[in-house]
Amino acid sequence: MSTLAILGGEPVRRKPFSPWPQYQASDIDRIVKTVESRHWGGYPLPTALAQEFCASFAELQGVKYALPVANGTVAITVALQAAGIGFGDEVIVPAFTWDGTATAALAMGAVPVFADIDPDTYCLDVESVRRAITPRTKAIVPVHLAMRFAEMDGLLKLAAEHGLTLIEDCAHAHGGSYRHRGAGSIGDIGCFSFQESKLMTSGEGGMVTTNKLEHYEALQTVVNCGRASITDQFGQRLIGLNYRMTDLQIALLIGQIERLPGLRQKRAERAALLSELMAGIPHVRPLPAQPAVTLPTHYCYVFQYRPEPGRPAPHRDLFVAALEKEGIPCDGRFYEAVYRSDLFYATPANCAQLALGRDEAMDYSRCSCPVSERAAYDESVWLFQFCLIGDEEDVRDLARAIGKVAENLEVLARQNPSLAGVKAMGRAQRARVERAKNY
Ligand SMILES: Cc1ncc(COP(=O)(O)O)c(C=O)c1O
Repeated sequence: MSTLAILGGEPVRRKPFSPWPQYQASDIDRIVKTVESRHWGGYPLPTALAQEFCASFAELQGVKYALPVANGTVAITVALQAAGIGFGDEVIVPAFTWDGTATAALAMGAVPVFADIDPDTYCLDVESVRRAITPRTKAIVPVHLAMRFAEMDGLLKLAAEHGLTLIEDCAHAHGGSYRHRGAGSIGDIGCFSFQESKLMTSGEGGMVTTNKLEHYEALQTVVNCGRASITDQFGQRLIGLNYRMTDLQIALLIGQIERLPGLRQKRAERAALLSELMAGIPHVRPLPAQPAVTLPTHYCYVFQYRPEPGRPAPHRDLFVAALEKEGIPCDGRFYEAVYRSDLFYATPANCAQLALGRDEAMDYSRCSCPVSERAAYDESVWLFQFCLIGDEEDVRDLARAIGKVAENLEVLARQNPSLAGVKAMGRAQRARVERAKNY
């Protein structure tokens, strides 16, 4: 067995993976043309350039209306506002997601209520959502996480039974579909992010999608400073801010959407190969296939670290550090259980809605979502999507490196190496790994 790179051996890989984000000469031309047009902003809404892009995006996701916004967090806040979610209303969100899914609800004066995730998809568990419903619940925000979809059949049924709005957080699901229905077309409103790490990007940016004209009109009003929507059939007058996207961002997204289907397909093929290769590796478990997913997307390839109970094994974070030292860009604590995250400090002192009309204020320190906590702190390993858009040899390197670390678990646990020499790790990750060693 070759020595692990973290213990002084040769790494499996020294070459970088594909660069991200990707661009080509036509993107630069389009940006130059937009600059020369002297139309850089997002007003009037939607601009001529945005209209064309929105039509393509709506077609891609199989939805009637698409409206660009400043970013993915804004997409969720405007979706909640347009759906009429008000002060003190409860919004059920998964505990295992980016904090923005929950803080968007706080920003709208709502109370995020955390439900746990399914251990095989890492997306909302329908029964956990059912248990979280109270008379104050007004909406559910499932996240289609990393490479899986939330179980939309069950969630649609539950939402219909209780009269709840369903807002899909599709920040990881551009170009994906579930039972042949595009992400963002299944619930009432879909929310996308075009932040730099996402499958389509304009550096920052977002999109809201819907099949309902009433929601589309409300969204336009909220995004465009309260102005009436173009069609104004429902006459909605809502407080709006300026959440518009600029034409410079749209210019970048046009090339992104052209290349998305090809990249989506490539990632799906590379991911399938990786799962196949990982089937023979001990102590790791690819997330099981999800038959309802008809067009899979891979924002990240996520697998589970499952060391054999009763045998010496390093903590997941040390496994990830060793994998990174083999030349594989990866992360362990990519997401936290949001209620335990350093970025989620919601208390009744800074969010008055947490106490509104309650005998006891919402206290997030009492939340417990064990599957989310296990995924966040012990189990999930995240490989970045740009590892899946190169050649097949990249995938074989991923599998070789995972296999090498997995087969050396006992040595790694025994040596429990100093992380001072792990140059590949950022300071934040090293600090996390050091913390994990003290668990
Ligand atoms: C699941 C999820 N929801 C929401 C967001 C927020 O998107 P943005 O960063 O564009 O505000 C992100 C992106 O980081 C995300 O990954």
